[in-house]
Order: sequence, then structure tokens, then C-alpha cells
Amino acid sequence: MKKLFVYMSLLTVSLISFSAVPAVANDTLYTRIGGYDVIAKFSAGLIDGFYADPAFTRFTEGGAPAEVVARDKQLTAEYMCKITGGPCFYIGKDMLSVHKDLAITGDEWSALMAIAISVTADLDMKPGDEKEFLRLVDNIKKLMNIQSPAENR
Ligand code: HEM
Repeated sequence: MKKLFVYMSLLTVSLISFSAVPAVANDTLYTRIGGYDVIAKFSAGLIDGFYADPAFTRFTEGGAPAEVVARDKQLTAEYMCKITGGPCFYIGKDMLSVHKDLAITGDEWSALMAIAISVTADLDMKPGDEKEFLRLVDNIKKLMNIQSPAENR
């Protein structure tokens, strides 16, 4: 009877530890932040914020058809999925080609980062992952040759 009790206790402990599936150190950022659901929410929030913010009126004046907004969200999601280590394919144009002739200023970049920060704050990432994710977003400016506001004035 005692043996059976020990056996049952061991079985319970091993079942609990296998079912919990803790995040392991070599998980990608994509996995750690919650995968595609979280990436898609980030992308939707970023693009909605972009279209709603007067800082971007010169790009968004007159509005955009729903399919253009959906395309922006989808391509941004695929891009973020890919650069966080997820299993997505990005089929849009590269960041430099698509943004280089838009003359994006440092202040516009800061306005976009403010949206990214506020959207990310609602996504329940662990603080270290949130920092890494936002650093990754901010680094995109280097791919577009955008300078920080101080360098830009
Ligand atoms: C202040 C910052 C930014 C501004 C003003 C901006 C503006 C734009 C504009 C106007 C377009 C449409 C260009 C066209 O169709 O000719 C575009 C495309 C795009 N942007 Fe940005 N963008 C910014 C930052 C970002 C960031 C941070 C990302 C990624 C997270 C991003 C991802 C994309 C993608 C995926 C496309 C579509 C590429 C394609 O059509 O193949 N953009 N952006």
C-alpha cells in the first residue's frame, strides 16, 4: 500500500511537471511573447494607431481602403513574426526600398515608437521580453536610414 502511494505521488509529480511546459531558455522571442496571436495584435494596434495619429497625416490623408489597411497589418505581422524568430515568411518589399523615399523624420519615428510602446504595454509580455521586442522594433529605423530626432534637426 505504501509502495502504491509512493508510486502514485511520483506519477502525479511527473504529470504536473510535463503538462506545465515551462518556457525554456532557448525559446525564440516569438514563442516567449505568445506567438502569432500576440504578433497579430501588435501589428493591428500599430497600424490602427498609425492611421489615427495626426503625426502621420501626410501619409494617411483621405484615409485608406479597408483592404489596404488589412494588407498593411498582415505584412507588418509577417515581418514581426519573422524577425522575432517565428515560422512566418515575409513577402513584402524590404524595409529600405519601401521607406527610403518617404523622408521619415526622427520625430515621426518617435511618434511611431510611442504607439508601439503603448500597444505593447497591453500585451502582457514579461518585462525583459517587452524590452527586447521594443528594441527590435526601434532597430528597424536603422534599416530605413532614419536618424533619431536629435540627429535629425
Ligand atoms: C515612422 C515610421 C513609419 C512610417 C511613416 C511608415 C510609412 C509607410 C508607408 C507610407 C508605407 C506605404 C509605402 C508604399 O506603399 O509605397 C509603408 C509600408 C510598409 N511599412 Fe512602414 N512606415 C513606418 C515604419 C514601419 C515599421 C516600424 C514597420 C515594421 C514593423 C513597417 C512596415 C511596413 C511594411 C511591411 C510595409 C509594406 C511593404 C510592402 O508593401 O511590400 N513600417 N510604410
